[in-house]
Amino acid sequence: MRHVAATVYAVTTTLDGQNYGIIATAVSSLSFDPPSLLACINRDASLHDPLTKAERFCINILGLSNRDVAEHFVSPDLDRFAVGDWKEHQGVPILQSAQSSLICTVADRHAFGTHTIFIGALIEASHREDATPLTYFDRNYIDISAAPERQRSA
Ligand SMILES: Cc1cc2nc3c(=O)[nH]c(=O)nc-3n(C[C@H](O)[C@H](O)[C@H](O)COP(=O)(O)O)c2cc1C
Repeated sequence: MRHVAATVYAVTTTLDGQNYGIIATAVSSLSFDPPSLLACINRDASLHDPLTKAERFCINILGLSNRDVAEHFVSPDLDRFAVGDWKEHQGVPILQSAQSSLICTVADRHAFGTHTIFIGALIEASHREDATPLTYFDRNYIDISAAPERQRSA
């Protein structure tokens, strides 16, 4: 999958007063009605077990300005929430400068292989109009906002 350009998300939750989160690209919209999303989380990830017990989680869609958060989030021993303008909202950590924050209740989950697919029912969404997406491609973070517009044929 390394040649697939992917949007970068910080998937976060809170359980018993402790915040958890990982960077993920295996996230997708699921249905319009009810509005819902899915996130595929490795069973070995620190987020996984808390997410099986939590009521809610947040899918933060990262923008270019959040690259520091993406890089900091993969540090195993540091406080992941020390970098970035995080605040608690609706019981979960949301990144205020993210392109979007999608707060979900955990509606369902399905184990498959090394991962669990968590299905979230959307309860609140916030967006920043001026954000540009952070994209992961070929093991690097890239900026696709400068991609040339498609030429219209006459
Ligand atoms: C760009 C990128 C995308 C990732 N996508 C996923 C993903 O979709 N699902 C997942 O479980 N882990 C994903 N990971 C790995 C997690 O972010 C995390 O590093 C790993 O699960 C170990 O987390 P832990 O130290 O909290 O246990 C991704 C990592 C990077 C850098």
